[in-house]
Amino acid sequence: MSADSGQSIHGQWSNKWMFILAATGSAVGLGNIWKFPYITGENGGGAFVLVYLICISLVGIPIMVSEVLLGRAGKQSPINTMMNLGRQYGGSGAWSFIGYMGTLAGFLILSFYTVVAGWALAYVQRIASPAFHELPLEEIKGSFSALVSNPGELMLWHTLFALITTVVVARGVSDGIEKLVKYLMPLLFALLCVLLGYAATTGHFVQGLEFLFAPDFSKLSWDSVLVALGHSFFTLSLGMGAIMIYGSYLPKDINIGKTVVIIAGMDTLVALMAGMVIFPIVFANNMDPGAGPGLLFSTLTLAFTSMEFGGFFGTLFYLLVAFAGWTSAISLLEPGVSWLVENKNWSRAKSAWLVGLLCWVIGIGTVLSFNVLADFKIFDRTIFDNLDYLTANIMLPLGGLLIAVFASWFISREMQTQQLDGKGGLFTIWLWTSRVVAPGLVFVIFLNALGLLG
Ligand code: PFF
Ligand code: NA
Repeated sequence: MSADSGQSIHGQWSNKWMFILAATGSAVGLGNIWKFPYITGENGGGAFVLVYLICISLVGIPIMVSEVLLGRAGKQSPINTMMNLGRQYGGSGAWSFIGYMGTLAGFLILSFYTVVAGWALAYVQRIASPAFHELPLEEIKGSFSALVSNPGELMLWHTLFALITTVVVARGVSDGIEKLVKYLMPLLFALLCVLLGYAATTGHFVQGLEFLFAPDFSKLSWDSVLVALGHSFFTLSLGMGAIMIYGSYLPKDINIGKTVVIIAGMDTLVALMAGMVIFPIVFANNMDPGAGPGLLFSTLTLAFTSMEFGGFFGTLFYLLVAFAGWTSAISLLEPGVSWLVENKNWSRAKSAWLVGLLCWVIGIGTVLSFNVLADFKIFDRTIFDNLDYLTANIMLPLGGLLIAVFASWFISREMQTQQLDGKGGLFTIWLWTSRVVAPGLVFVIFLNALGLLG
């Protein structure tokens, strides 16, 4: 199937905004509101944020352009797209490795993503109950540890979230989810603004901003740089085919470069706003910014239990966090499901339920890694930590590196300019950042993190 011959068998976005919405729905998720603040806290703040912003601009944006380009050129699941384009332009179907690794990464990420999104659901229940607001401060602060030490409750929410994700994918991504995102994303944004207003009154707003934006390079290690790089892939949904498959539904007259910049810009804005909300509250309450995965839950509950109408705003907020996670989770399933539909000739529903079940089972490992199996460590990391490390720090950057190299060095100039409609300056910038800068940075950061550069 060539670029001009019609559309993907799975469908096509009705217009440019549907693509932007869906891709932004995929990008904006737990990565922005939950993960970005806590890894920023663990890695010392400002210097880490600066490296992260550099990674987004020099690595993330060119690779997102590459990924959409390949998707629209191939018009199939990432595995088959890479197989066909690989044969056509790269001399070998072995390029499908990118698709296989990405699809696997999607399963692994989804397996813990549903658990974390489950935490947000658990907090909806807590914050919505007036009794929770009456608890002593220490108990509210400790509510997160209490939650994760209870495997039964975690399983319940993990299961619920896996179910709602699978149901939507089984039905087809288009109608329901597009409409949902259209109203929910602006609402989430508005609520972040409300919380930002609250954080600004804590009296520690400036300290929060300093933590986030004043770089102190003595706090930066090569490991932190790898985390920042990995997170720039994770947060933009790159390196695993999610954006590739969304790109395959993109009509041919839409400008890829502009849409990508909008998507990456919105994702970055939401992450920075989440940081500006959370850190002032952390400092105002003498909490530890490096508290880890529970940071979002232990800090914001303090805000919600002490502010006016906190029960209302808090319930709405955690609901929206879950919704943001929902629109991301769907895109994690899409590469695997589209491949099963193409290759096994199964219905979309059957494919979705199979993949959803698989992720649910793997997710049990994450549920237990916070309690029963907390001391079970491989490479000094729990099951959850390993899944997170392996996907974000290794699989996504490696996939992204190969995607950039393939799109910029192997795809013909004719196809490149047709997809990116240009020969101008922006095209040249994309070409050379994808050819040299992005792969080079990923490579050097890998070598350093492995300790190979001394
Ligand atoms: N970008 C999502 C987030 O920031 O929460 C996570 C994600 C979704 C990663 C989809 C990868 C992906 F394919
Ligand atoms: Na994100």
